[in-house]
Amino acid sequence: MPPLLLLLALILPPGADAGEIIGGREARPHSHPYMALLLIQHAGGLSACGGFLVREDFVMTAAHCWGSSINVTLGAHNIQRPERTQQHLAVRRALRHPDYDPQGVRNDIMLLQLRGRALRGAAVSPVALPGPGRRLRPGTACTVAGWGQVGPNRRSSVLREVTLSVQPDRACQGRFRTYSGRTQICVGDPGQGKNAFRGDSGGPLVCDSAAQGIVSYGRQNGAPPAVFTRISHYLPWVKRTMRRFTPQG
Ligand SMILES: *[C@@H]1O[C@H](CO)[C@@H](O)[C@H](O)[C@H]1NC(C)=O
Repeated sequence: MPPLLLLLALILPPGADAGEIIGGREARPHSHPYMALLLIQHAGGLSACGGFLVREDFVMTAAHCWGSSINVTLGAHNIQRPERTQQHLAVRRALRHPDYDPQGVRNDIMLLQLRGRALRGAAVSPVALPGPGRRLRPGTACTVAGWGQVGPNRRSSVLREVTLSVQPDRACQGRFRTYSGRTQICVGDPGQGKNAFRGDSGGPLVCDSAAQGIVSYGRQNGAPPAVFTRISHYLPWVKRTMRRFTPQG
């Protein structure tokens, strides 16, 4: 079975099951102040993804969330409402990893350079990236947040979160043909109903206050585990890219 990318087309065929974070709960408003909602224009139409602020002028997300035009909303809880905490920014450059492979869904990471800078505050602030070389242990509890679906006919539009545990690589090696523990993280206990989600592509896996993973793909039926991009593997590229596009002076 092909892997299911966890991005969400905004124009759903009638009766399509868009799903959302499964077994999760509504997040306390603004308790994930790094969360970004991305609206993406591409050849197939409009879609939505999650992302997360890593610096005032950069959002990290999945490469498969790429599009010809992307707008970012920060500081949101209910995305159907014009909340005072929300900041809307356009994307200046969408920088996919140069080795992104859409067929095998490898190197699924992208940096978005914002047009302008986010204003830091209680509802908007960047998340820390992991330190180099510290390996995540299986069993570690992490949080994933997302708006799941933002379809035009959907009313429940608040940020939701779920706690998921890191799995040993072998739990994904058998299930996903191209899975690599070097560049990816296997997340979500197959024995628990709590789990994966659609429409949350690009959102962060946060463990111990650092963003360790990026939601990449899962199985068609939504059963855990799911595959996340392992951010620590990409730190040299992330640092190089952000440095390269830092405005001078
Ligand atoms: C982004 O915002 C601009 C300005 O409001 C708008 O013209 C454009 O259509 C938006 N693009 C997407 C993908 O939402």
